[in-house]
Amino acid sequence: MSSLSCIEMIKRGYKFIFIGLAVVCIFVFVPRYMRGEAVPRRLDMLPRMDVRAVLSDSAEKLLLYWKPFNGNGFLIPEQNCLKRCPVKCNITDDKSMFYDADLINYHLTDLWPDNWHIDTTKTIEFPAYRRKEQIWVLTNQEPPSNLFGNLRVFNKLFNWTMWYRTDSVVPFQYGWSVALTEDESSSSTKDLEQRNFYREKSRNITGRISNCGDASRRYRLVHKMQQHLDIDMYGGCYSKKCYHENCNQPLEEYRFYLAFENSLCTDYVTEKYWDAISRDQIPIVNWDYQHVKNVVIPNSFISVHDFGDIKSFVDYLEQVMTNETLYNSYFDWRRHFRVERRCSSCLLCQHLYADTSRRVVADLEGWVRADICPKVQELNKLVLDIDRRLFEWGI
Ligand SMILES: *[C@@H]1O[C@H](CO)[C@@H](O)[C@H](O)[C@H]1NC(C)=O
Ligand SMILES: *[C@@H]1O[C@H](CO)[C@@H](O)[C@H](O)[C@H]1NC(C)=O
Ligand SMILES: *[C@@H]1O[C@H](CO)[C@@H](O)[C@H](O)[C@H]1NC(C)=O
Ligand SMILES: *[C@@H]1O[C@H](CO)[C@@H](O)[C@H](O)[C@H]1NC(C)=O
Repeated sequence: MSSLSCIEMIKRGYKFIFIGLAVVCIFVFVPRYMRGEAVPRRLDMLPRMDVRAVLSDSAEKLLLYWKPFNGNGFLIPEQNCLKRCPVKCNITDDKSMFYDADLINYHLTDLWPDNWHIDTTKTIEFPAYRRKEQIWVLTNQEPPSNLFGNLRVFNKLFNWTMWYRTDSVVPFQYGWSVALTEDESSSSTKDLEQRNFYREKSRNITGRISNCGDASRRYRLVHKMQQHLDIDMYGGCYSKKCYHENCNQPLEEYRFYLAFENSLCTDYVTEKYWDAISRDQIPIVNWDYQHVKNVVIPNSFISVHDFGDIKSFVDYLEQVMTNETLYNSYFDWRRHFRVERRCSSCLLCQHLYADTSRRVVADLEGWVRADICPKVQELNKLVLDIDRRLFEWGI
């Protein structure tokens, strides 16, 4: 190759780079400017003297919930459960306390003003200052399939995650099982011998679903089951609506509850499962135990995943429905475990006292995408909408 054509190619190369940059500017920055989107303000450390750091050693620690946080009724139950916490913290939603707070808790779905735009980067305003020792927590209970917004804008903003995922900094599940001590176990075993869970109830299977176009397509599964079994379905997607009526009364009467999750993601098990457990029902579930084994109680549920096809699944359900011994065996776990609900503020408070290591959540989007279920995207949302429509047309 002659040196002349080489120079010619470099010149052309520059031209392409220039045009390329111009195109990038037009397509990336101009629309962003026109939509007026803002990335969160990066916060510099406070220039003021850090008085609280000196005073706060013996004082209670203060947790600030950055509003809106799950609506207005949120603080009162948290304040109540904090009274039983072994370590001392106060909580507030008064934003003017942002300087004094030892921890600020943000709720992920509250951070997006346009929280139905899949890739939005527009966020709420964050505090203008941040003390070096102040912990920022990102709380979330939604699975990736419901997580709108581009999480990259939060890189290196938060110190801790508090999610249902067991690999969060502060894992917070919808429910917890606790292993019994030997004494507790023998007294629990005695109690169990007095009970016949099968006889305590009189009806078979129920479920309640109000999100009709879900990512796990449970509407298809329910429909297939209903071709073989009588199932009383409640909720917005079915004819028996019972939002404001006394729903719990009939629910308690059923031996089985369809605790189908709307998304099948790592560790994602919601109150559907835990509520069924506390109503003394067998939860029928759509997740694979392997994906949630750190969360749920072994042998407490029946999973469609453990059967090759619908027929063998419903045959087995029929068997459990008619065999008292078999049914009651699904409560044997109570010899070894009990269930409890925890106080999220107390958990945060305990971490605040115990965990003084420095941490930064560097790649939130990457962490969310490292899951067995996809994060919401235009395309998969469209595919789900189409599938739901086809289902309604009987296809
Ligand atoms: C924390 O709670 C205690 C008791 O309710 C109260 O006396 C104290 O003023 C509170 N501290 C803050 C900073 O809110
Ligand atoms: C429950 O299912 C069993 C077995 O299919 C059936 O014999 C029984 O009548 C059902 N009970 C109710 C209340 O539907
Ligand atoms: C009921 O289930 C138990 C435990 O699985 C089993 O041993 C028994 O044979 C079953 N009884 C009938 C009538 O199928
Ligand atoms: C919390 O995160 C901020 C922002 O990345 C960081 O500067 C600070 O050192 C972290 N603090 C702790 C205690 O981890």
